[in-house]
Amino acid sequence: MAVIHRYDAVIVGAGGAGLRAALAAAPRCSVAVLSKLYPTRSHTGAAQGGMCAALGNLEEDSWEWHAFDTVKGSDYLGDQPAIEIMCREAVDAVLELEHLGLPFSRTPDGKIDQRRFGGHTRNHGEAPVRRACYAADRTGHMILQTLYQQCLARNVTFFEEFQVLDVLLAEGRVAGVVALELKTGELHVFHSKAVLWATGGYGRLYKVTSNAHSLTGDGPAICFRRGIPLEDVEFFQFHPTGIYRLGILLSEAARGEGGILLNDKGERFMERYAPTIKDLAPRDIVSRAIYLEIREGRGIKGKDYVHLSVSHLDEKVIDEKLPDITDFVRTYLGIEPKTDPIPIQPTAHYAMGGIPTDVDARVVIDENDTPLPGMYAAGECACVSVHGANRLGTNSLLDIVVFGRRGGLHMAQFAREADFAPLDLEPAEKLQEELDRLRSREEGERVADIRDDLQQTMMDDAGVFRTADSLQNAKKKISELKDRYRKIAIDDPGRSFNTDLVEALELGFLLDLAAVLLEGALARKESRGGHYREDFPTRDDENFLKHTLAYRKSEEDIEIKYKPVKLGKYTPQERKY
Ligand code: FUM
Repeated sequence: MAVIHRYDAVIVGAGGAGLRAALAAAPRCSVAVLSKLYPTRSHTGAAQGGMCAALGNLEEDSWEWHAFDTVKGSDYLGDQPAIEIMCREAVDAVLELEHLGLPFSRTPDGKIDQRRFGGHTRNHGEAPVRRACYAADRTGHMILQTLYQQCLARNVTFFEEFQVLDVLLAEGRVAGVVALELKTGELHVFHSKAVLWATGGYGRLYKVTSNAHSLTGDGPAICFRRGIPLEDVEFFQFHPTGIYRLGILLSEAARGEGGILLNDKGERFMERYAPTIKDLAPRDIVSRAIYLEIREGRGIKGKDYVHLSVSHLDEKVIDEKLPDITDFVRTYLGIEPKTDPIPIQPTAHYAMGGIPTDVDARVVIDENDTPLPGMYAAGECACVSVHGANRLGTNSLLDIVVFGRRGGLHMAQFAREADFAPLDLEPAEKLQEELDRLRSREEGERVADIRDDLQQTMMDDAGVFRTADSLQNAKKKISELKDRYRKIAIDDPGRSFNTDLVEALELGFLLDLAAVLLEGALARKESRGGHYREDFPTRDDENFLKHTLAYRKSEEDIEIKYKPVKLGKYTPQERKY
């Protein structure tokens, strides 16, 4: 029998989006935050370079320019009303974080310092602008610590190391979630009026990724299994500068501070691909350029990497503004970045798609944006959609704070007005049987083998470049991996901290999301942002200026529908930088 808890609102995930939502909701209703990690280990803590807002502290800037850059960066797939809200609210969001105690880096006269980042420009693309507010190269870490301290000060209730495995729906609305307590192996039911998903991304689909091991798409996969569609999952961002082979992020801030990319001939090749803003072009463009250089034989020593060079920068800039990433280079590569170039390759970094929401983070379930009462999502697991087909760097920390807050406020209001939906008599019974079966099976397929095959397949066939053949090949392989997954066995039959069991469950989520990504990518016969089809190399606004909605029809079948992009004052143009 599962332990039963009752809260007005449950927030799943304790990264920036979850914590910001909790801060907004907690004074207004009873809130529990469930996290599979200790909260300050959430992946927001790995975000490095900054959070953008048109403060104009160092040069002229405006939220309208920020909105334009975001729309253009999104390859015109972003919803413009949501983008306007995000860019307009950005300034207050940064000031609020400052007042909550976030130790931003400062200008000599004490203002919040700002730096350049990819795709952020002055006056509609004229030149890069200083828009990213930052705390050295630890901005996400500082946001996470600040929000967590504030949540503790406001007595938000945390359930740490609780892995959410299911959502309960009744009478067409949310009734709560079921979670596994990692310490005891017990199931807990959280009966609630509202649930907000803030579980982050699913970069662990890929072999080379900047994402932590925990980023397995739990929220989107659980929603998908319960009939909620997923939006635009085919758009996956590769960050241009991951440490070669390891994928560990080296912030775009390195290029924002003046770092450059070089090929084997020592050429600053981005001059050819983006003559105006060069190394500070959006990530989809830079990642493709790196692969093109490699394909054409200009990778370093003919291999599959290029160089990031910061050795020409002032030592003070490196020490004060890029201390963490330069230490990573020393630690993981044994290279001194002050003197030597750094081997890098694109690394799977960010899911533009996810659980569809409106601008108040309400989960919407069809092309008419019909909300599912009580269900919310914010941050990377959600798709609002402010990033469209390609996110600009530093817009994700902004997204989590702006839409986390909006979601927290809306869910608290909802919870004050709504009743609890009824619970089944044994709401966790089926899940318990499934876990018991998994724990007791003695022989079967190994989770790590299936996960390796999944990550290699996605890397080879559904990465930066895609074709119908590569995607069909991946689809076939994923279907085989799903068959193998049904026969898995784990080594640890125990209850306490059974990471073997958790990894098995996470693999199930990843396999579902891989299938959704591939189906959407096969259907989208065009190239846009992070989705590049070599067999359809141009953007096709006539047929594909629309969002994908993927519905689960059965274990094997996914139905693809579409919904219109919400346009605004910026009509789609050719994207030149
Ligand atoms: O490059 C970076 O610091 C990453 C930032 C982001 O993904 O927004």
